[in-house]
Amino acid sequence: MYYFKFPQRVKYLLYLSCTVFILNSCSPPSTSTEKVEETNGKFVKNNFPDFGRMISPAEFHSKFPNDRVFKLSQDYPLEMPDDSQIPSFFDIPFDDDERWMEYINAVRDYAFEGMIDVDFIAQESKVRKWYHMPWMHWGPQGSEGFHGLAKEAEIGPYQLGPDQKTSHQTYALGFYNEFAGYTLAQMWKDKDNPDPYATQKPNGFPVGTVIFKLLFTDADESEVDYLVNPMTWNAYITPTWNNGQDTGRVVKKMHLIQMDVMVRDPRADQYGTGWVFGTFCYNGKLNNGKEGSFRAENLVPVGIQFGNDPQDTTNFINPYPVTKTIINPNLKQTKINPDSTQLPPQHLGWGGRLDGPVDLNTSSCMSCHATAEFPQIAALVPKESFIGDTNALGQLTKLTETQAEEFIDYFKNLECATPYTADATSCDFSLQVSLALGYFTEWKDEEVEGYWTSEFERLPVEMNRDGSLKINVPQLD
Ligand code: HEC
Repeated sequence: MYYFKFPQRVKYLLYLSCTVFILNSCSPPSTSTEKVEETNGKFVKNNFPDFGRMISPAEFHSKFPNDRVFKLSQDYPLEMPDDSQIPSFFDIPFDDDERWMEYINAVRDYAFEGMIDVDFIAQESKVRKWYHMPWMHWGPQGSEGFHGLAKEAEIGPYQLGPDQKTSHQTYALGFYNEFAGYTLAQMWKDKDNPDPYATQKPNGFPVGTVIFKLLFTDADESEVDYLVNPMTWNAYITPTWNNGQDTGRVVKKMHLIQMDVMVRDPRADQYGTGWVFGTFCYNGKLNNGKEGSFRAENLVPVGIQFGNDPQDTTNFINPYPVTKTIINPNLKQTKINPDSTQLPPQHLGWGGRLDGPVDLNTSSCMSCHATAEFPQIAALVPKESFIGDTNALGQLTKLTETQAEEFIDYFKNLECATPYTADATSCDFSLQVSLALGYFTEWKDEEVEGYWTSEFERLPVEMNRDGSLKINVPQLD
């Protein structure tokens, strides 16, 4: 059965019968033994491509003898990990002004433990398992073969600081822990028929899920002073962002600039979201870590966010280029690191909500991620986030259409595993899930040389972080 044809009726029956048991929880019910036998073991045995773009094997061997080729970690577990694997930082209050930093640093340690010493090669971690998202290899923004970095977004002039006069780009790789891997197994165990309902209530990423993402840029210390003493990875990338087009890829050194984390923490249910987001900015001036991946120890907490503070309408943007981090004291669901000796100046998001250096200053982690759905009908950023007053450099200083309904909705709190648009399926705040399902569908259309009626029932939009709205209908011959 193709997932598009999953009858609405069954969907609602499923929903109704299960919600009774799982009120306030996005944890899936336990796996049935039948499913385990189906794939004859404890792991999914798929063979998704490892990456989508790479130089030839001959060139790789002659020019890069010290590099490795990226391998997708994809033996997703069919069994839910037991509670003993819940991270120990689930004891630390993330919403306490005095302790949130302890929480977010513990998440960083959890991501680094067993990984920093193996250069973040997931398969080599001896401490715990980490997985990658399938299908990120596909399309013009497809992942590359040195480190699995997928082309992500453009960085506009001055976004990273006053000396960054030219545009740059971000490439990134996500890591999913065993709890998250269980959900990926449920979604992808039949590789030809992914189940998008794996991330919608009564399912969804289980409590204990930790996802982290390393973000790299082709900007360097000549334009961004805190990228001194860099942690670098080779990557096969486009020379410039070039409107997201995929032409003329070259091998370049990329610099670690940011690390993002997402945690499915049940204590965040009370804020109406169920998720905790956190981000870190690279500050090479601290000169922590000896070399190689240990340089990742220069990642400094920017802040934490467990809700959008819908009640707060303080309307300000910290315009590019930033000179200092502006903290909005009215926010209750974002906490920002006030230590400017450690943290380079941050623009943050709208009204001071959490956002990282490469993210847009009129959005926020949670508002963008809440839109994750399949098909992706909602825009990642509403158009009102681009309308306002500008400074002499042409940078936005104040939004002027913040009363628009779409903008207000964008900063409401959405419960985990709940669709943003009524007619779509929730990807439970994971935009890589949304991308993977979208890429898979486009590929399948091409492969079968045909379309499904359901693809014409709603209009998905192309996933753009820069706010441009392209309707994404199948290209008919
Ligand atoms: C304007 C939209 C936008 C904003 C703002 C944004 N992200 Fe994302 N994020 C994305 C997209 C698109 C992806 C998927 C593609 C990728 O990984 O690059 C993603 C991927 C991720 C992932 C990988 C997990 C997944 O499946 O989605 C994490 C973790 C993450 N973001 C955390 C954050 C954090 C933390 C912040 C704030 C500091 C943030 N994001 C801000 C758009 C956004």
